[in-house]
Amino acid sequence: MTAQSPAQHAPGADAATTPWWRDAVVYQVYPRSFADADGDGMGDLPGITAHLPHLRDLGVDALWLSPFFTSPQRDGGYDVADYCDVDPRFGSLADADELIASAHAMGLKVIVDIVPNHSSSEHELFQQALAAGPGSPERDMYVFADGRGEHGELPPNNWTSIFHGEAWTRITEADGTPGQWYLHIFDTSQPDWNWQNPRVHALFRDVLRFWLDRGADGFRVDVAHGMVKPEGLPDAAVNAEGLLDIPEGEVPIYFDNDGVLEIYREWRPILDSYEGERMMVLEAWIPEHRLPLYIGPEEAHQSFNFGFLQATWGVETMRAAIEKPLALADAVGAPTTWVLSNHDVIRHATRYGFPPGYRFGEGLGRAETPDAALGLARARAATLLMLSLPGAAYLYQGEELGLPEVAEIPDALREDPAHLRAGVPGRDGCRVPLPWRADAPAYGFSPTGESWLPQPEEFGALAADAQEGVPGSTLEMYRAAIALRREHGLGRPDAPVEFLEDLPEGLLGLVRGEVVVLVNTSEQELPLPAGPDGLDLADAEVLVGSAEPVPGRLPADAAVWLRRR
Ligand code: BGC
Repeated sequence: MTAQSPAQHAPGADAATTPWWRDAVVYQVYPRSFADADGDGMGDLPGITAHLPHLRDLGVDALWLSPFFTSPQRDGGYDVADYCDVDPRFGSLADADELIASAHAMGLKVIVDIVPNHSSSEHELFQQALAAGPGSPERDMYVFADGRGEHGELPPNNWTSIFHGEAWTRITEADGTPGQWYLHIFDTSQPDWNWQNPRVHALFRDVLRFWLDRGADGFRVDVAHGMVKPEGLPDAAVNAEGLLDIPEGEVPIYFDNDGVLEIYREWRPILDSYEGERMMVLEAWIPEHRLPLYIGPEEAHQSFNFGFLQATWGVETMRAAIEKPLALADAVGAPTTWVLSNHDVIRHATRYGFPPGYRFGEGLGRAETPDAALGLARARAATLLMLSLPGAAYLYQGEELGLPEVAEIPDALREDPAHLRAGVPGRDGCRVPLPWRADAPAYGFSPTGESWLPQPEEFGALAADAQEGVPGSTLEMYRAAIALRREHGLGRPDAPVEFLEDLPEGLLGLVRGEVVVLVNTSEQELPLPAGPDGLDLADAEVLVGSAEPVPGRLPADAAVWLRRR
């Protein structure tokens, strides 16, 4: 079966003319936790610049930097107080310039995270909005409303926050009286901008130009489905209590409103007016059928496809998580993206250590005990599957080391606002600073041995230097796979994805040009099946595998790329 038609994906397929983002491998850097150059225990921009050779040697095409802007860090930097400056914890604008220039000198593109749904409550414009009275132009930059009830003592509507609790906070007016309420879909420290106001549009056009002028090759748009709220701020029929509580197939009332699409139509010509292929990738949690509205030549370039990340281990689930987005890629005229981990979800080396169908909470609790070896084996296999697919693949820092989610962080050190608001474990477990050197303090994260979150002992054996040059290590597997992906043009959309049919139970197989990809999701080692056109795959060359090779066979929970002879 051919899931993707070569004809529809051929335009610009020539490597020289294909825009880089269509088949890129993009590496997400979470600046707080990547590398700390100044020794305060918090990662920084000079630390990232110093470690760019790691990304070059990994073979990725681009890095996406999570926010490094001025911020009180109430949500790890997704609470921005100044979009056009660098937080002193991370360095200076000069450090950002140096990072971008050094990345470019190594042939790496740089994607900057833009957070347009909300700012920090410490943003100067929010402070001005608080100081100015109701009905003032300052207040109109954000979503303020009068409360309900006789004295305005009830929130303007029933909306709840993604981080739990009410989505509204009442302020005290300058004269000391209880006043209006402001909307915050996330934490109280993250007031939502009012995108009905043209001045908000103008502000963000300037922010885009600021970073494009400094050399940014693209933007990852945070909460890209969130900015425009429904007219009149009506009550929600379906409400969410935390991100995971949103009923399946439903979208909270404040997300995915059509007005959001206008913003991308406004931004696209700005990006297009710059030299090079400047791009936007959306973090939009929307129903699949809405995707074609967001992506296109006049809208955004691409959007994260979270279906692959959510697919459980198994042939049917994983195959469906590949076929659906490929079919949608046809509809939007742009290749899809693939993601297995990011800074908001439990790392995939841990997720796969639980049985398929396991109901995860928000973060990993101390009492939850994954099968770590199984999780890593399956994660490596899933990564090989992902890197064989057409479109852009997004990696999250540390997955190339096989890092697990860390459960044993003391509550007092957790910083995720969802933890602070609702007591759930939250997302700190995937944000623990990276281990670079097995024998150094803080595993080489920081010269002083400081680390804003404690690293577990198991990070020592997973440190980058412990894996470097070690055949079969996760780091070497990633390097080999990324190099082979480029060599065989696997990311390019012009070669179709053909699934092998009638395989033994538990085996997923697909063909990409001369490469055959097999994933054994069963618990038994299986003989290699016959390949396309009855080829004997036992005779094929092994390009890369996620497990120790066994001649003519594929171990359980493993994947392999074979070259047809
Ligand atoms: C980011 C999160 C952040 C939230 C609010 C998300 O989509 O990825 O890390 O907490 O937006 O900005």
